[in-house]
Amino acid sequence: MEYLSNKEIKNKRVILRCDFNVPVSDGNISDDSKITKSFKTINYLLENGNIVILLSHFGRVKSEDDKEKNSLKIVYEYLKKYYDIEFISDPLELEEINRSSKKIFLVENTRFTDVPEKRESANDLELAKYWSSFADIFVIDAFASLHRAHASTAGISKYLPTYLGFLVESEINNLEPLITITNHPFGVIMGGAKVDDKIKIIENILNRCDKLIITGGILNTFLKVKGYNIGKSLVSSDEEVLECVKNLLINNEDKIFFSNNFIVKRNDKDLNIKIEEVEDEDVILDNIINSELLNNLNMVFFNGTCGKYEDENYSTGTKGLLEYLSKSDASVYIGGGDTLSAVHKFGYDNSFAYLSSGGGATLEYVSSGKLKALEYISLNSVNKE
Ligand code: 3PG
Repeated sequence: MEYLSNKEIKNKRVILRCDFNVPVSDGNISDDSKITKSFKTINYLLENGNIVILLSHFGRVKSEDDKEKNSLKIVYEYLKKYYDIEFISDPLELEEINRSSKKIFLVENTRFTDVPEKRESANDLELAKYWSSFADIFVIDAFASLHRAHASTAGISKYLPTYLGFLVESEINNLEPLITITNHPFGVIMGGAKVDDKIKIIENILNRCDKLIITGGILNTFLKVKGYNIGKSLVSSDEEVLECVKNLLINNEDKIFFSNNFIVKRNDKDLNIKIEEVEDEDVILDNIINSELLNNLNMVFFNGTCGKYEDENYSTGTKGLLEYLSKSDASVYIGGGDTLSAVHKFGYDNSFAYLSSGGGATLEYVSSGKLKALEYISLNSVNKE
């Protein structure tokens, strides 16, 4: 894999794959950090006389109707404040780029090409070839998308010399200690809402860490499998997931931990109780981690919050954990959109070893040491000019 930082790229046409999949609320970008983190690579390429063609996905596009709410126009309006940029409104019609005098373009959501038939997500090489025909070089800076080997994150590398941008380089360097795991005991704190999305990651990460602390909504399924009453709390109903959780618990008795301290909603009251006290109508909304579970760790990876932290009443677990970790001597690494939002919300931006811009990508990388797009690129890229 070659880094952009080791290469002088001047006066070329460059496809730059970014991850502009930013959260939007009430029609506004609520966290622009994924965009601002791309500025370094964009600016470097523009300052060196290159024409920059920005590609990104935005949300999930499965039908014609999904297109309207997943247009990258909102990101174009944002980028317009910084660059004299042109919007290419159809990812299958890039010809305007050859006619325009602009130096930077944002192409509409690459996933629009998944309707009616999957092209971007299926890594359709005809599509990758079409996009490649507008450029001389491919730079990938979309760290948060590297767990997907799609046409725009991987396929293009088959047709163009490919380099990893500054953001990808920084993520790989900063996450290195979690991949080589030189610092034991290594603890992973895994929370968040849905266990179904994370079960494979949990399975893999157990082979790499010394201790796994389960918290948040995903803990409910573990508790249910252990035979506890979890009332009306969010839980997986997928038989395969339940079976997998059961086996994980049997095979990792000495590695999987949780804290028996919950905030539940009972009727209209919030109660601080132990799992044995949960009643049929209760909903578990927060889990407060006991610091004794954490105090012998030298390296920690935290992904997924302990409860419904956006609501002040259920923020104690997440806030308390961040407070404890910020003061601990362990090197603490944090990843995932919601977890980062909690870090910002509670004012811990400068308290940890590293905050990763990736969600699913960081999880995949930390749990397996691999990223699908990078694997594809290292096997397929044509790095010659
Ligand atoms: C993310 O937000 O984690 C990335 O942009 C990937 O999005 P995806 O899960 O829809 O591929």
